Amino acid sequence: MARVVLKDLTKCFGEVVAVNRLSLDIKDKEFVVLLGPSGSGKTTALRCIAGLETPDEGEIYIGDRLVNDLEPKDRDVAMVFQSYALYPHMTVFENLAFPLECAKVPREEIKERVQRVAELLQIRDLLDRKPKQLSGGQQQRVALGRAIIREPKVFLMDEPLSNLDAKLRVYMRAELKRLQKELGVTTIYVTHDQVEAMTMADRVAILDRGVLQQFDSPDRVYAKPSNIFVAGFIGSPPTNFFDCTLTDEGVLDAGEFKYSLPRDLVKIIKEKATSNEVVLGIRPQHVKVYRRKEKENLIKARHYTTEPLGEMVILDLKVGETLVKAIVDPEFKVEKEHWIEFPVEKIYLFDKKTGTSLL
Ligand SMILES: Nc1ncnc2c1ncn2[C@@H]1O[C@H](COP(=O)(O)OP(=O)(O)OP(=O)(O)O)[C@@H](O)[C@H]1O
Ligand SMILES: [Mg+2]
Repeated sequence: MARVVLKDLTKCFGEVVAVNRLSLDIKDKEFVVLLGPSGSGKTTALRCIAGLETPDEGEIYIGDRLVNDLEPKDRDVAMVFQSYALYPHMTVFENLAFPLECAKVPREEIKERVQRVAELLQIRDLLDRKPKQLSGGQQQRVALGRAIIREPKVFLMDEPLSNLDAKLRVYMRAELKRLQKELGVTTIYVTHDQVEAMTMADRVAILDRGVLQQFDSPDRVYAKPSNIFVAGFIGSPPTNFFDCTLTDEGVLDAGEFKYSLPRDLVKIIKEKATSNEVVLGIRPQHVKVYRRKEKENLIKARHYTTEPLGEMVILDLKVGETLVKAIVDPEFKVEKEHWIEFPVEKIYLFDKKTGTSLL
């Protein structure tokens, strides 16, 4: 059992609060991704769990044991870094064997375990080579092997794929996910790449400036973002946002356009929002684009530019001076002027002041 629990974990560097009261309850065997922009405190959080940084406040439990005062080597975790730092003068075999030799594992057992890990990672043919005779992906697999071979309770990985080229990264992403499930080792994986996070994680913990924004399944952080930051950070192209005022008639006035809300949503805003200033959000994937004013409540938009992506097209439209991005099929016939719809079941509403979702 290696549940990992963080309680109000806080770490400061001088004035900077790198990790701010971070609480997470990570289940045994779970694959959790810490996701956030550069400087959001992901590496710092991971290093605290590994024991490489001392938190200023908070508790860290690994497998129900409080580990705050334990040395890194006594925490039963293995960390894989972005730069895999293999020992250049050692062969792949020796690199893999090294952690076991340090732990005084008998020679015969070392041989067996190296073979087993090499098999698992499909690097058996490479055991006699030196790191510089390997491709980036092969080196990365050896680095993973070196972490796996100790059979730790927890894997901690800090952007382990970011040095690989795009194609290999996509391949290794799937390999790593499969391996994690096969080994059943609780894994905390740091990345700033949302695609990596969404495709690999059981749950994603989204950080901004050291503060946890949402901890949920990939589906939920996409469909039910808890605040403006998450709605803007997850998904590509990013969510369209419009500052609006809720009028007495229950209409959202965005200046360039008005949006009629159903009564139940008006009620929710009135109950939950700190004022009548709200932010309307809609993903480009959910904006419907029409060539004519086919029905009521459509918003007039001018064509601004078109960004073809092969299987889909990003249509950049302007409503007044506001840019709206919409995804359309490549077959869609672009006109100078369009009518767009934000289907009510797809919109997000946020409190402008707090950024929190109202839905
Ligand atoms: N050793 C340090 N001394 C001083 N400040 C630090 C130190 N390590 C990190 N910081 C600061 O703490 C904040 C969080 O840094 P951290 O490295 O955890 O971010 P990150 O989310 O891993 O970013 P990236 O995606 O760029 O790796 C940043 O503002 C950073 O400048
Ligand atoms: Mg980092």
